[in-house]
Amino acid sequence: MLLCIPDLLDQNELAHIREFVLSADWEDGRATGGSHSALVKKNRQLPISDRVALQAGDAILDALARSETFVSAALPLRILPPMFNRYAGSEHFGAHVDGSIRRAGASHVHIRTDLSATLFLSNPEDYDGGELTIETAFGAQSVKLPAGHLVLYPASSLHCVTPVTRGERVASFFWVQSMVRDNEKRSILFDLDQSIQRLKFERGLEDQECLSLSNIYHNLIRQWAQT
Ligand code: NI
Repeated sequence: MLLCIPDLLDQNELAHIREFVLSADWEDGRATGGSHSALVKKNRQLPISDRVALQAGDAILDALARSETFVSAALPLRILPPMFNRYAGSEHFGAHVDGSIRRAGASHVHIRTDLSATLFLSNPEDYDGGELTIETAFGAQSVKLPAGHLVLYPASSLHCVTPVTRGERVASFFWVQSMVRDNEKRSILFDLDQSIQRLKFERGLEDQECLSLSNIYHNLIRQWAQT
């Protein structure tokens, strides 16, 4: 499932986070990532332990926790601290895979990357290129969203960022370990939950069918979730 979540950040949060991260000290993006990534990666990133990155990342984690759509789609068990990258002057990130296991910051906690996320911090009219292109079962999908919007996709997908040929693209990116590892099962749960929410809205919270479907949803979670 490739899912766009609009307006994860409101305009105030967005302006604040973008200004804040742009004031920090950026480094060559090749400082992180595996040996293959280093060959195809040409961008800049904030160091993982950078104070600005950690503070801005916390603001993003707060926004994720408030987003019912994100929680329903990702069923997050753990979220890695959000990172930040920027591309300008034909910088790009060629086709690559994201590592399956990542260490959370300087801790000894290891996280399995089930989902990858990109939160766009630049307006699409402010740069050319910079599409996030994701290989899916239905072919390559190009994603370039308004600032403040998030895209969530299976971390198992091959993907790239095309060269930014005008302006600058600033984004946050991070990984999620889900309580439901299997993409298909997680996708079914998301569809079911979305239908239940619509039904609740139409029929009210007391509706017996809504109650029954909610029970089924939670029983499926009991079957499939690992915590
Ligand atoms: Ni990647």
